[in-house]
Amino acid sequence: MNSFFCQIPKAELHIHIEGSLEPEMMFALAARNNIQLPYKSVEEIRAAYNFQNLQSFLDLYYAGMSVLQTEQDFYDLTWAYMQKASAQNVRHAEIFFDPQGHTSRGVSFETVHRGIYRALQEAQQLGISSYLILCFLRHLSAESAMEALEQALPYKDTIPAVGLDSSEVGNPPSKFQKVFDKAREEGFLTVAHAGEEGPPEYIWEAINLLGVSRIDHGVRCIDDPKLLEYLIEKQIPLTVCPLSNIKLCVFDSMAKHNIKQLLDMGLCVTVNSDDPSYFGGYVAENLQEIESALSLSQQDIYKLVKNSFQATFLSAAEKQARIAELDEFMMK
Ligand code: ADE
Ligand code: ZN
Repeated sequence: MNSFFCQIPKAELHIHIEGSLEPEMMFALAARNNIQLPYKSVEEIRAAYNFQNLQSFLDLYYAGMSVLQTEQDFYDLTWAYMQKASAQNVRHAEIFFDPQGHTSRGVSFETVHRGIYRALQEAQQLGISSYLILCFLRHLSAESAMEALEQALPYKDTIPAVGLDSSEVGNPPSKFQKVFDKAREEGFLTVAHAGEEGPPEYIWEAINLLGVSRIDHGVRCIDDPKLLEYLIEKQIPLTVCPLSNIKLCVFDSMAKHNIKQLLDMGLCVTVNSDDPSYFGGYVAENLQEIESALSLSQQDIYKLVKNSFQATFLSAAEKQARIAELDEFMMK
């Protein structure tokens, strides 16, 4: 790993905490909780991470999270990620969690939230600020999402935003319009995965029906010139995840990724890791991979990282302070 990509101060805006579960921890938690995994070794787990599309990944992702049972498990998972993020000089992280993936297995919302949130609080000592984003699983019903929202209400001071993830095609944002209406009424900001595998219409729906502040992935906006124009004019950020897109066959190779094209057109694109344990890299590795595959300049990297701060839910003053720190780093 080139130290520049580790050291440059950055924000991470698209990380599923359950997707940071490394095989070593999966084994340790399975043993701690007396759970039988269908793998004999860490190497066997890594060898299974060969995906054809989003669904083939999600099947393993949901199976993997079954080892997370206690508050301490969620704490350990989150603390491990925050240490990794700290080593890569992530200065602010906005972190997704999937409560329905746990409550459906009998783990309470409170257990999940307490473990994750305690680790995030303690990570402030590492110099990382963070926000939590509750994601609704779009393959489940709108009623189930509404139930998850109700469960989150007592904790809403600690969860500034809600999002939408899981199987995209066939589960358009419109399915969750009422849930997002209620979430916005309750004061949550909103984001949504859209245009990862799904069409540009899903990005329009996320904007027009769910009132999102950012689009997660969004790379298929390239197929709709009017949408591109709109995203540029409004500077609606896209949280792009290059290694994820290659692992899930959204693009055939990194050289064919469209992030440089979107950046050059003037979209507010950012670089993120999605599910780093499953896709082979955290945010610094994502930056390094696109730099070499797409011949990015220092100015391109600067712009992507500056966008990451600009696209956070931090206050204007907090954004400014972190961008000033970035500018100072670039002058060294
Ligand atoms: N959940 C975890 N990672 C995801 C992704 N890349 N797309 C949709 N849902 C997800
Ligand atoms: Zn994602």
